Amino acid sequence: MGRRIASILSVLFLLGLFGTLFSAPAMAQQMADRCAACHLGLADQRLARPAKVFREDVHASKGFGCVACHGGDTEAAGMEAMDRAKGYIGKPDRKQITRLCGRCHSDGRFMRQYNPSLRVDQEAEYYTSVHGQRLRQYGDTKVAVCVSCHPAHLIKPPSDPRSSVHPLRVAETCAHCHADSQYMQPYKIPTDQFQKYKESIHWKTMSVKGDLSAPTCNDCHGNHGAAPPGMTWVGNVCGQCHSVMAELFAKSPHAKIFARMGTPGCATCHSNHDVKETDDNKLGLENESVCAGCHSAQDKGGKTAATMRSLVDSLRSASERAGALLLQAEHAGVEVSQAQFELNGAKDALVKARAVVHSFSPDLVKKEVEPGLGISTKAHARGVRALDEIQFRRKGLAVSVVIILCLIVGLVIKIRSLEREKVDET
Ligand code: HEC
Ligand code: HEC
Ligand code: HEC
Ligand code: HEC
Ligand code: HEC
Ligand code: HEC
Ligand code: HEC
Ligand code: HEC
Ligand code: HEC
Repeated sequence: MGRRIASILSVLFLLGLFGTLFSAPAMAQQMADRCAACHLGLADQRLARPAKVFREDVHASKGFGCVACHGGDTEAAGMEAMDRAKGYIGKPDRKQITRLCGRCHSDGRFMRQYNPSLRVDQEAEYYTSVHGQRLRQYGDTKVAVCVSCHPAHLIKPPSDPRSSVHPLRVAETCAHCHADSQYMQPYKIPTDQFQKYKESIHWKTMSVKGDLSAPTCNDCHGNHGAAPPGMTWVGNVCGQCHSVMAELFAKSPHAKIFARMGTPGCATCHSNHDVKETDDNKLGLENESVCAGCHSAQDKGGKTAATMRSLVDSLRSASERAGALLLQAEHAGVEVSQAQFELNGAKDALVKARAVVHSFSPDLVKKEVEPGLGISTKAHARGVRALDEIQFRRKGLAVSVVIILCLIVGLVIKIRSLEREKVDET
């Protein structure tokens, strides 16, 4: 009891101090929220920090104060502000939090006043996720709740680079739990997703190239878990962005077979978290190929793999050879830019052929490869002609140099004989 009085007294003392501190006009708004004013002065960081950081929170910028979530009386300056009779709820329990946020965020009419385009299904979606289901069914409070991903008092829109849910920061936010093997120990699921994702082409594309269209955790798993992992979904999620491959794959023999084998679609060959850059070595039956894991040179799949690989190889090497020849000609000063431009057609065909690999049909791959080979042959012929031209020019140059030299020599002889005649005369 005595301790309580002492703490109230110290608070009152601090209030007096803050009364003077907050007289600056800039602090006028903060003053309006007496909860924050008192909390700012408390020595216990657990109590003071929320008030300090809240100034940067999206809710503060929309004019909300502490009572928007905690209830209580904003007008009261003393401890009576936190009166349960005035709706004060204290520190919300983890199980309460989704409803606390959902009270506004699931209310379309209320939210429209602020931002008509903001979705209002976060709470509903959350309960379709593994997180939400475990919270509801087992009361498991170790799962993520709203404030695990949107830290209370420092919530920012996803577009803000400082936000915990900005594309470049989501992975870290999830990793707080999912990369913590001790925390995740009871669940017996891998804790390597973050580490693997950081090595993927997707993260590289995002972090090095700054291309935010590459996926991070929530692009594949849903912002609020609307798409729980599952067989059919796995193929779909990659297909959102790689639609050409996904369509071809869906019609291929593997689609049904993999489903029956219980093997995830794209991830069977590319993995899910550490998706790497691909190259033609992945195709065929050699060491690095993904096909060799299940096929051999004897079965039909293996033969097909080898055929497709040799088709792709033939186009790649033809296009490279033509390109090298044209470059040589260009360096020698022959105008070949038109031919170089046309050779891009072969490179496009190569890109298409690599995509059509996902049909696992050699005929379809051949259909893309053949026109590319035609273009390469034409470009190669142009390169050969350009080099012939250079040869011809060189020969021409040699002949003219010889003629000029002869003329010079003739002239010199002539001059000498003229000079000798002059000397003889005198
Ligand atoms: C006069 C100073 C003062 C005012 C005004 C004040 N608080 Fe507090 N608040 C405290 C102190 C001291 C504590 C810690 C002691 C306690 O829990 O009773 C605290 C505790 C809290 C806690 C944490 C409770 C917990 O269980 O951990 C919350 C949340 C809180 N206050 C919110 C508010 C809100 C919302 C308002 C405004 C309606 C407000 N406070 C007004 C001083 C104040
Ligand atoms: C958008 C809703 C929201 C607003 C606005 C809000 N809080 Fe909180 N606050 C929460 C939630 C949710 C928690 C529980 C966080 C948790 O469990 O990690 C919390 C926790 C707290 C705690 C306990 C911290 C702890 O670590 O135990 C204090 C103290 C507190 N808030 C004070 C304030 C004060 C002061 C303000 C105004 C400056 C404020 N809050 C504004 C949602 C809010
Ligand atoms: C009192 C109503 C209310 C409560 C309670 C509330 N919010 Fe908000 N929230 C809003 C409003 C209004 C906005 C501003 C929307 C806008 O203008 O874009 C907002 C904005 C946000 C944004 C940024 C949205 C964007 O993209 O602009 C996030 C994230 C957010 N809130 C999460 C939460 C979380 C998490 C909680 C619970 C801890 C919570 N909110 C509690 C009303 C509320
Ligand atoms: C597992 C992490 C996680 C949890 C739990 C979570 N969110 Fe989110 N939330 C995100 C991510 C990631 C985004 C960013 C989405 C994007 O980039 O558009 C987001 C975006 C938002 C937005 C901005 C609008 C939108 O829908 O994109 C609001 C509002 C929001 N969350 C509210 C909530 C509320 C309310 C809860 C609890 C019911 C919640 N979130 C729980 C991760 C989470
Ligand atoms: C507060 C800690 C926490 C945070 C933050 C968190 N999670 Fe979780 N997550 C869990 C726990 C605990 C489980 C339950 C594990 C289980 O049952 O297998 C889980 C389950 C999952 C599962 C289902 C795993 C399975 O069993 O197949 C996925 C997927 C998932 N989380 C993705 C995410 C993503 C994506 C984010 C970030 C946007 C995230 N989580 C943030 C704690 C967290
Ligand atoms: C390119 C898409 C993609 C990205 C990005 C991604 N995941 Fe996954 N994740 C998957 C797929 C696919 C599965 C496998 C689901 C299945 O087998 O049912 C999976 C499985 C999981 C699981 C279940 C346990 C496991 O490892 O199999 C967790 C937890 C998880 N992911 C968390 C994360 C986290 C955290 C991130 C970000 C660091 C992330 N994921 C990024 C696609 C992705
Ligand atoms: C949100 C969009 C998005 C999703 C979802 C997505 N990706 Fe990607 N992916 C990209 C982008 C962007 C790149 C990098 C640019 C490029 O090379 O196409 C990329 C690159 C790749 C590459 C490397 C391509 C190369 O040039 O070698 C592979 C392989 C790949 N993704 C496979 C997958 C798989 C498998 C999944 C599902 C588990 C998936 N992606 C999900 C957008 C996405
Ligand atoms: C049976 C194995 C296998 C499956 C299943 C598979 N791929 Fe591929 N994927 C490959 C091989 C092999 C390559 C390399 C082709 C090459 O470079 O010749 C490749 C290349 C790619 C590329 C890069 C293409 C480029 O332009 O270089 C992307 C992107 C891709 N796959 C996405 C996907 C997606 C999305 C799915 C699911 C719809 C998928 N893959 C399913 C084997 C597979
Ligand atoms: C996870 C194992 C697995 C991988 C990896 C795999 N396949 Fe298959 N594939 C199968 C199975 C199982 C069948 C059906 C049985 C069979 O015909 O061998 C099949 C069938 C095929 C067929 C149809 C054969 C027919 O009878 O009509 C072709 C073509 C094929 N695969 C090509 C490929 C190519 C090319 C790759 C590499 C890019 C590849 N596969 C990678 C498992 C795999």
